Amino acid sequence: AGSWDPLDRSGVWRYREFLPALAPFDSVVTMPEGNTPVYSMQRCAAYTGMETLHAKHQGMNPTGSFKDNGMTCAVSMAKKLGASMVACASTGNTSASMAAYATRAGMKSVIFIPDGQIAYGKLSQALDFGGHTIQISGDFDMAMKIVEEVCIRENIYLLNSINPFRIEGQKTIMIELLHQLNWEIPDWVVVPGGNLGNNSAFGKAFEELKRVGLISKVPRIAVIQAEGANPLYQSWKKEEQVLTPVEAQTRATAIKIGNPVSFDKSWFALRSTNGVAEEVSEAEIAQAKVHIGYDGVGSEPASATTVAGVKKLVQKGVITPQERVVCILTGHLLKDPDYTIEYHQDELYADPQRTTAVTGHEKIETGP
Ligand code: F0G
Repeated sequence: AGSWDPLDRSGVWRYREFLPALAPFDSVVTMPEGNTPVYSMQRCAAYTGMETLHAKHQGMNPTGSFKDNGMTCAVSMAKKLGASMVACASTGNTSASMAAYATRAGMKSVIFIPDGQIAYGKLSQALDFGGHTIQISGDFDMAMKIVEEVCIRENIYLLNSINPFRIEGQKTIMIELLHQLNWEIPDWVVVPGGNLGNNSAFGKAFEELKRVGLISKVPRIAVIQAEGANPLYQSWKKEEQVLTPVEAQTRATAIKIGNPVSFDKSWFALRSTNGVAEEVSEAEIAQAKVHIGYDGVGSEPASATTVAGVKKLVQKGVITPQERVVCILTGHLLKDPDYTIEYHQDELYADPQRTTAVTGHEKIETGP
């Protein structure tokens, strides 16, 4: 949409009728975020056993993840409340996004990250955006506990997805998606699950769209977790809405979370959309990620749980090949280059003989 008004250019604030708590919109901090593409994924469709498969890429946001959709709202609220300092615990993307929006708003930001466990793409962003970054010797769940205590004690505004305005902003990911699809409702929306804020936001969006009569049916939500960080899946399997924290282990560091703060909201979203929770292995994540690459799209590892999840749910007969499915790719490929390079290590052509084998040329001219 062409307009001088930044509110109209943002894929979040364009839908401000659905953000009533933030009215009258006089303190908006925007990049502008959203406006992310929906791709048709032919290679991934074949890989998962689907006739068609689509992906909405939230990694195409200003700081490369879906966090920007929520952060614009929560930082705008922080500004409205007169906060001078904001904080979060993060596996990387929240901190990158918070640091960017906070510095634009003229606020200081403080970040608690698990020591040595966040991808360098994300850490570099936080540092360049001026975030004060504190590595704690512990995991994300420990960092989350610490930041909650510090925020209360020091009167700092907390920007994790426990903050309801983050969830409000992330609702617009679904509103924008349905708008892009001309309000033809997909059968499924598939999303990774970590701290469980994103799928909670999606469920809330569908409830509200239904309530005002914009849609009459809702997509089913599938939340996909890594096997080693699967507390939602564990409870879902037992059909018991009781959170039993786990000691999280996965190389998809974005979702390496064992004690998710939005467990109950997430449960509600699954119930109200007739959704499912599923888990996928490390190998399944890595293979799915490569196939997202084959479509020329790419994503960070956590996002690849979605394509891996579709494959598994098709095998189980939960998703049928004719259904319309949209995977939410939550973060950009360049967020975690180390993971990718390590995966492809053996394919790097160091040997000129192999170059010849691939190109069919005897000799490659390499310049003067
Ligand atoms: N995908 C990516 C790329 C993420 O960064 C996250 C969460 C998720 C999925 C999971 O989303 O928490 O709403 O269920 N990253 C947070 C962070 C925890 O600190 O950046 P969720």
